Amino acid sequence: MNSFLTIAMPKGRIFEEAAELLRKAGFQLPPEFDDSRKLILEVEEENLRFILAKPMDVVTYVEHGVADIGIAGKDVMLEEERDVYELLDLKISACYLAVAGLPGTKISDISPKVASKYPNVASSYFRQQGEQVEIIKLNGSIELAPLIGLAERIVDIVSTGQTLKENGLVEYAKITDVTSRLVANPVSYRIKEQRITEIVDRLAEII
Ligand code: PRP
Repeated sequence: MNSFLTIAMPKGRIFEEAAELLRKAGFQLPPEFDDSRKLILEVEEENLRFILAKPMDVVTYVEHGVADIGIAGKDVMLEEERDVYELLDLKISACYLAVAGLPGTKISDISPKVASKYPNVASSYFRQQGEQVEIIKLNGSIELAPLIGLAERIVDIVSTGQTLKENGLVEYAKITDVTSRLVANPVSYRIKEQRITEIVDRLAEII
C-alpha cells in the first residue's frame, strides 16, 4: 500500500506546465484540477493530495512538513533559503534572474536603489559586485520602479523579455538561470523515501 503524500504546487504560470509534466509521468489528475478554485485537491487513486500555494510559499509549506514535496522555482529557493532537499531539476518554466533598468542610466552615487521581489538575491548580488545599494521590496510589476523613479535598477525574472521591451527597459546583467525543481521536506524524505523516490523516478524518466 502506497503511503499518502502531500504535494505543494505553485499557482499561476508554472502550474500548467507542472500539471502537464505530472500527467506525462502518468499521474491521473482529474480535469477539474486545471480550473478549480479549490486549494486542496485529493487524487485518491494516486494517494496524493495537492495543495495550491503562491509560488513563493511552496518552500515554506515543504519546510514545515505540511507538504512532503513541492514544485518550486530555483528563484524562490535562492530567495527563501529554506531547509528543503532539492531532488530534481524539472526543466520547466525556464527563465532567468537579471538586473535591468532604463537604457543609458547609472546607479545613483548618493542613494543607489534597487527594486525587487527578490530582496535577498538582489542584495547578495550587489554585495558581490562591491556595490552598496538600498533594496526596495516590491510584490509585482517590478518594471514600474525605474519608470516612475523609485529605483535605478530592478532585479527580476526575465522569461520572453517582452515586459522589459514593452516598458523600454534593458538588461544590465544576468544573475542566474532559473527552472522549477522538485523539493522535499527532509523528514518526509526519510520516512517516505520509497514513495518519494518512485515519484522522482517517474518524473526523471520523462524529463
Ligand atoms: C514576471 C516577472 C516579469 C515578467 C517577465 O511577472 O516579474 O515582470 O513576468 O516575463 P517576460 O520576460 O516573459 O515578459 P509576472 O507576470 O509573474 O507578474 P508580477 O509582475 O506580478 O510579478
